[in-house]
Amino acid sequence: MAAVSLSAVSKKFGPNTVVDKVDLAIEAGEFVVILGPSGCGKSTLLRMIAGLEATSDGEIQIGDVVVNDLEPRARGCAMVFQNYALYPHMTVAENIGYALKVAGLPKADRIARIQSVAQMLGLGEFLDRKPMQLSGGQRQRVAMGRAMIREPKVFLYDEPLSNLDARLRVAMRAEIRRLHQRLGTTSLFVTHDQVEAMTLADRIVVMNQGRIEQIGTPDEIYRRPASAYVASFIGSPGLNLLRVNVSTNDGHIKFGDGQLLAYDRKIWKNLQDGPVTFGFRAEEARLASDGRGLSIRFSFSEELGSSRLIYGAVADEEAVLMIDHDEKFSADETAALSIPNSAMQFFSAETGRRIS
Ligand SMILES: Nc1ncnc2c1ncn2[C@@H]1O[C@H](COP(=O)(O)OP(=O)(O)OP(=O)(O)O)[C@@H](O)[C@H]1O
Ligand SMILES: [Mg+2]
Repeated sequence: MAAVSLSAVSKKFGPNTVVDKVDLAIEAGEFVVILGPSGCGKSTLLRMIAGLEATSDGEIQIGDVVVNDLEPRARGCAMVFQNYALYPHMTVAENIGYALKVAGLPKADRIARIQSVAQMLGLGEFLDRKPMQLSGGQRQRVAMGRAMIREPKVFLYDEPLSNLDARLRVAMRAEIRRLHQRLGTTSLFVTHDQVEAMTLADRIVVMNQGRIEQIGTPDEIYRRPASAYVASFIGSPGLNLLRVNVSTNDGHIKFGDGQLLAYDRKIWKNLQDGPVTFGFRAEEARLASDGRGLSIRFSFSEELGSSRLIYGAVADEEAVLMIDHDEKFSADETAALSIPNSAMQFFSAETGRRIS
């Protein structure tokens, strides 16, 4: 395993900058997830590390070596793709062992290594099958085996689970985490799925239009999102975000419909008069039994099994609440929300950055 460090790495395609001065230091053995919406530059970033795409600017280091000018195979990375990219005419064993064959390893050694990898991935009984004769999850494992057998210094995963059904995704996610615990190989995992990111990562890198919005542990990113963008992306549902006006004199915020909500001036010393974005998590607000609080008009609910999500509007802006089954709610009803001080978050209306 090796540390990976990027300094001011950029990528331009013609006039478009799709990765913009990215700085990132990944420790040896760390599992880092790059999270962001489609088109934000995740794959491009990964491909530059792998050497499949040249950088336009900046430096990439793997271990102690600057790899910008190294061939992909000299970088010690193994990449696992979304579409597996298995050789259809080769058996599972041949697919897994291909890199060793190319490297000229004697057959007996190859077979031993293939068997040990197949064992680890639960593919022992499929070694003679062709990819066509495997399920999606099994193909994904073969793709992982093919990467693992090279004993890379770094694993690069590009949305490897997105072709799988929901249950298999959860199972493979756990398997990837277990493998990482066993092998300890530095891993970079690209996804647009925040649940995948939260469950897999030691640290998450949230990207937005080619730039890094925030780097942090899943807990940090969930609890203290650095921007409204991160806040709305993380959590299911994402943070409720509502436009309000602050009055520091009175210590309250005013919603679009004129409702007032008091905030704690001792906690929020940096709030200034004027418009801000107010945020709170669906799971942190409660229905106020005494009817006093922020007025919300409900429209519909979604059953989650262990709880319910109810959608409504506060001053014409959508808000979501997560409630227990014993809490009463009926559609088209107005209710009062109580939002504890500790659950309130504020972001600049202009820049979207967090106000501390
Ligand atoms: N070879 C290319 N030539 C021109 N533009 C490209 C090329 N490859 C990618 N892009 C553009 O760069 C941007 C980032 O693409 P990238 O594939 O890195 O996004 P992504 O975050 O991986 O998205 P997704 O989640 O959809 O896979 C996109 O706007 C894309 O259209
Ligand atoms: Mg991609």
